[in-house]
Amino acid sequence: MRLYPPVWAIGREVVGEFELRGFSLPKGAQLVASQWVVHRDPRWFPNPEAFDPGRWLPERAGPDRIPRYAYFPFGLGPRICIGNHFATMEAVLVLATIGQRFHLELCPGQRLDFDPAITLRPKRHHRMRLHRRSTDAGATLERGRDERAQVLADGASMRS
Ligand code: HEM
Repeated sequence: MRLYPPVWAIGREVVGEFELRGFSLPKGAQLVASQWVVHRDPRWFPNPEAFDPGRWLPERAGPDRIPRYAYFPFGLGPRICIGNHFATMEAVLVLATIGQRFHLELCPGQRLDFDPAITLRPKRHHRMRLHRRSTDAGATLERGRDERAQVLADGASMRS
């Protein structure tokens, strides 16, 4: 969501003339704020190209280090995305479920190329290799699935 924001820019129309840092903005002017650009600004995200989820930890980010408006994958203000919390919860659940079981690796010889349409999407399919993890969490999930499958099978045999 920071490095490859699905929405990579949003627009706003100036409804009344105002001044912003010495620039006079007339009514009707179109402004573009790009998540792609701001999310890669080294002032807020040192070593910006690095995928480093730990940068968000409170002990590293601190209360002021990443300003509120430096990260806006869902936009900001009165027109902020209404699916914001739902999409975040869904992404965390899906990624945690996959990530507990598999380590994903881009197959060699491939580049990430993007097609910046209204939303940002890959230019072509990317081949990935999935490596199964052998963690306790993964084993628990496997066991849970087997148990559910057993319950379903028992239920089916009772009905037949
Ligand atoms: C990763 C998933 C999503 C991303 C990155 C995303 C991003 C955005 C962005 C950037 C905006 C424009 C906000 C602005 O102009 O400030 C927006 C608006 C909106 N989004 Fe999402 N969105 C996502 C998922 C969803 C979902 C799941 C729903 C519905 C359940 C949803 C419904 C809406 C609606 C209705 C608006 C228009 C809000 C308005 O103009 O008042 N979005 N979204």
